[in-house]
Amino acid sequence: MKRILSGVRPTGQLHLGNLLGALENWKKIQNEKCFFMIADWHALSSEYANAGMIKNNIFQVAVDFISAGLDPEKSIIFLQSWVPEHAELHLLLSMIVPLPWLKRNPTYKEQLQEVKGRDLATYGFLGYPVLQAADIILYKADTVPVGMDQLPHLELCREIVRRFNYLYKTDILVEPQPLLTRVPKLPGIDGRKMSKSFDNCIYLNDRGKDLEKKILNMFTDPARKRKTDKGHPAICPVFQYHQIFNKKEAEEITALCSQAKIGCVECKRKLLAILEEVLQPIWARREDLEKTPDLIWDILKDGSRQARDTARKTLRQITKAVGLPEDN
Ligand code: TRP
Ligand code: SF4
Repeated sequence: MKRILSGVRPTGQLHLGNLLGALENWKKIQNEKCFFMIADWHALSSEYANAGMIKNNIFQVAVDFISAGLDPEKSIIFLQSWVPEHAELHLLLSMIVPLPWLKRNPTYKEQLQEVKGRDLATYGFLGYPVLQAADIILYKADTVPVGMDQLPHLELCREIVRRFNYLYKTDILVEPQPLLTRVPKLPGIDGRKMSKSFDNCIYLNDRGKDLEKKILNMFTDPARKRKTDKGHPAICPVFQYHQIFNKKEAEEITALCSQAKIGCVECKRKLLAILEEVLQPIWARREDLEKTPDLIWDILKDGSRQARDTARKTLRQITKAVGLPEDN
């Protein structure tokens, strides 16, 4: 059986991109030993000045997880900060990670440049991938489902594992492999990458008029000003959605659009109906779950307790390997 760990930062609600890119894949591998983590300390590393929103986001992400089909009976769903062993291992690893490894981390360099309005030149943010390595190592995960953007962090984790095993002449730490599933890239409603910072997301919890408005406002082929203009589906974000969610009709839509036989509003209305069908079961479960918020926190508590049992065992082995006295 594979040992799987992955996580998301609770910086907002989850969107359709997260559903396709992460949740749908996680659902399929739930028969392996799975740990799915809400990484609130990772969220804090960039949102420390706005930390008040993290608690509600943890709740929302937990509801998103479960309503999208993660099953707490099969997978361990837990909160990072409720397993303090993550902090302890982060500290131990920080002793052995050479600074240049962190300074040359491409995601660090990118974020420092791109993220505006927040000072990310902090000790904690530089150590982001060390904390991520601790997340993975504590569960001896051999498989980490992530997107391409996380590959540098995974490679760093593998280097840290090798360095630890070499320094302490042991083989207790496991080198994780990424699990990259080819998923079609879902653009945001403006055709750019779907991202909270672009304000172009369709959230799993968007419905009714909100969802309708977002779909009707989606960018299309910019050259198609009138219904009589022939369209180019290949460059239209609405069409990309049809290709993903409405495979049956995609070919027909290509033909109709490129011969100017369907209008964009009609095409968007078709998409809206399909998305409503896809999201309906998720909304229904969310409605139920939100009635009993205590239950959500209980699921996280229970998952964190189970995660902690595993994390403690690994940490005890690590302490011993380093040569520090064990406290029991
Ligand atoms: N850094 C990941 C992201 O931003 C989230 C994350 C934290 C993670 N810890 C992890 C992913 C451990 C995989 C394994 O998407
Ligand atoms: Fe895009 Fe559909 Fe309009 Fe064609 S008809 S340009 S596919 S929205």
